[in-house]
Amino acid sequence: MKSRTYFVCQSCGAQTQKWLGRCPECDAWNSLVEERTAPAPPGDAARTSLSSSSSSGSSGAQLYADVEMARMDRVSLGIDELDRVLGGGVVPGSLVLLGGEPGIGKSTLLLQAAARVAESVGPVLYCSGEESEHQIKVRGERLGIGRAPLYLLAETCLERVLEEIARRQPALIIVDSVQTVFSVKLQSAPGSIGQIREAATQLLFGAKSHNIPTFLVGHVTKDGALAGPKALEHVVDAVLYFEGERFQSHRVIRAVKNRFGAVSELGVFEMTDAGLVPVANPSQLFLAERSTGAPGSAVLCCVEGSRPILVEVQALVSTGAYGNARRTASGIDQHRLALLLAVLEKRVGLSVMGDDVFVNIAGGMTVSEPAADLGIVAAVASSVKNRPIEAHTAVFGEIGLAGEVRGISQAALRVREAAQLGFRRCVVPEANQDSTDSPGCDIVAVRTVDEALDALIP
Ligand code: TYD
Ligand code: MG
Repeated sequence: MKSRTYFVCQSCGAQTQKWLGRCPECDAWNSLVEERTAPAPPGDAARTSLSSSSSSGSSGAQLYADVEMARMDRVSLGIDELDRVLGGGVVPGSLVLLGGEPGIGKSTLLLQAAARVAESVGPVLYCSGEESEHQIKVRGERLGIGRAPLYLLAETCLERVLEEIARRQPALIIVDSVQTVFSVKLQSAPGSIGQIREAATQLLFGAKSHNIPTFLVGHVTKDGALAGPKALEHVVDAVLYFEGERFQSHRVIRAVKNRFGAVSELGVFEMTDAGLVPVANPSQLFLAERSTGAPGSAVLCCVEGSRPILVEVQALVSTGAYGNARRTASGIDQHRLALLLAVLEKRVGLSVMGDDVFVNIAGGMTVSEPAADLGIVAAVASSVKNRPIEAHTAVFGEIGLAGEVRGISQAALRVREAAQLGFRRCVVPEANQDSTDSPGCDIVAVRTVDEALDALIP
């Protein structure tokens, strides 16, 4: 086959024949880069199979009933919160992508996991294209890594990494980061989408054929997406995002895709000088600095994956200057806030039209569920009326445009978590009333925002 050049968008992976200033698929400017197709490898080399048992041969399709149930004994990474996000450990032969901003702690976490697996399961190969063995060792000393069989490979050449994998047959592979790895078979520059895709695909075949769990570290771009996202996210088995505020010590890992577990599962860590420490009870962490008795603060109970978490939502409403009211939301969606303020204005008659409204989820958490609506509205109303919400009350519920409070999922889980943390009263949607009785916690069922505010701020 003759090699041919074409142009690939570096942000979405779309291909064009000619160079264009703007990608026709994702509208990114100046993102097309020239790439060259590699001549197809001759004969058998081109045939690759995802089947992990080489003995089965490649004799075409198999009957569903005949496929043996593979033993999916998950490998524990020795870090509870990370195991939880993956659905109880990592599945052998799976490829996991861990994305996050620079400096958030990706390398730290994976080095910790590598050391634990090396201690309890078997040898681990940690390939780094960003740091030298020496630098990794300096970090490892801080993390207290002992004499476990942890092999470091400072290498960016994909073929050499694959060679090392085949030779060592480790129990776990970590590639930090996928953007630095390049294949000599492709002519495009390291970090280009073609190279990233090639690296991910080759490592996928490696992971599946040797049945070794593999972690890829992925950098995110300025606007928060993984570089080359479309190209990678459908190749890998699981995508985890590492989130957190640079100025706060806690970090959250979220699964956004998981072929072997629940999605949007959450793990919480605290960054200390001895690395990342799992936080077993996040509600306590997020409520630690709550100012009870101050107006504008409400406790809401959200559910992330299968885990209920109580967070404090704070609101401050102050008189706006010159008629251009400011609305600032952090930790919640700005548009959702605008909608809820309109409901307050129209359905409850609480005027915030000319006021500046600031809403914040304390501790840097992000809440995207509609179940947070009632908590947000309660905090805003409490600030407007300048009266505090009783400290032992938690709320949740979705708000509709007519000012009605709608039922939400997993209500019982939320109430249980609140009761466990000593909350004595929960304001819940009426639709959820039946499913939520918990000893020691009064349930106040409400149908409308008006009723809820009467109960919360009498
Ligand atoms: P790192 O894992 O290098 O981030 P990434 O690989 O995502 O770019 O994390 C680096 C940050 O973590 C750095 O700012 C220092 C901090 N850190 C600690 O606070 N404690 C520690 O024990 C370690 C190793 C790092
Ligand atoms: Mg790093």
